[in-house]
Amino acid sequence: MEHKILLNPGPGTTSRSVKDALVVNDICPREEEFGTLMHEIVNGLKVIGNAEDEYEACLFAASGTGAVEAMLTSALDETKKVLIVTNGAYGIRMKQICESYGLPHETIHAFGEYPDRDRIKEKLVGGTFTHLAMIHHETSTGMMNPLKEISLVCNEEDVTLIVDAMSSFGAYPINLKELNIGYLAASSNKCIQGMAGLSFVLFHKDQVQHLQKNSKNFYFDLHKQWKYLKEKGQLRFTPPVQVCYAFKQAIDETLEETVSKRWERYKQNWQVLYDGMSELGFEFYLPDEQQSKILIAIKRTGILPKGFDHFHDYLYERNITVYPGVIPESDTFRMAVIGDLQKSDLEYVISEIRSYLKN
Ligand SMILES: Cc1ncc(COP(=O)(O)O)c(C=O)c1O
Repeated sequence: MEHKILLNPGPGTTSRSVKDALVVNDICPREEEFGTLMHEIVNGLKVIGNAEDEYEACLFAASGTGAVEAMLTSALDETKKVLIVTNGAYGIRMKQICESYGLPHETIHAFGEYPDRDRIKEKLVGGTFTHLAMIHHETSTGMMNPLKEISLVCNEEDVTLIVDAMSSFGAYPINLKELNIGYLAASSNKCIQGMAGLSFVLFHKDQVQHLQKNSKNFYFDLHKQWKYLKEKGQLRFTPPVQVCYAFKQAIDETLEETVSKRWERYKQNWQVLYDGMSELGFEFYLPDEQQSKILIAIKRTGILPKGFDHFHDYLYERNITVYPGVIPESDTFRMAVIGDLQKSDLEYVISEIRSYLKN
């Protein structure tokens, strides 16, 4: 099998052992043996988030957006109101979900704006908001939003914090207990380095009473899904069986590497990219202090005269995948270091881009 270097922000490059874990004996997911696997997955996710004892977890056969939709539509109802930090495409997606279900909400911050603690505090002080929803790593810009600072404001104002940590959970160390996060969603195929097809929500045990009453959703009912899994060791509907085995393997590999060492590896890989691309003359969308160290949005104006597609195709032929940008009114592309990548992979990427620019 060829080693593909995926610099798109997930699904990321997976290890050989995660790929191998897909090939298993056929099994009916209603068997007890499979139930044990599901419980091991859920327990592993809690360990990754430092969320044992005080948190529950629940899985969906869905892409990451499914977990975000489950989280918002189960946590909120028309008697509650959420303030959404909309400083990128994924914050805006949360708003779109709330609009679709008629859930009361307001937004703060424009695309690319760094969240301002004082402005958020000012909004929350009035007492009209019961929840605040934010993206941790805003994958559209590569901005690491200040989770700790915002969590402190939420705690001061007694507002429940909802976090989409899709592209940080598993690599960036997050302590759900310390931050008193109410809900956190992520998926199998980003920083946990598993296959695509599963997403999950971790939620504080105190939220169970609210969830029971709230959900407007049939498939994405967090409470029903969690209760069924807890009591029967099964998802309510058919899971992607083989993807679950690969996810368990990926969780084991995350715990074995440890989240803090994985974070060091990602930061080191990102630095190779950042230094190499700077030296080649590229400029970046964000100032250095806002960079996540997981993804960089890179300006392409003036430096890729044959266009992004030509650049993409040249690299793709050399087993490297780069990704277009989504920032409005800004001509960018994105490179992420999510996945089973080593420093030498990023050095290879830079040497190939150097050769491309010389041609
Ligand atoms: C922060 C964030 N939220 C949500 C999503 C949506 O995930 P999916 O495409 O798996 O539905 C992504 C995907 O990149 C993301 O980065």
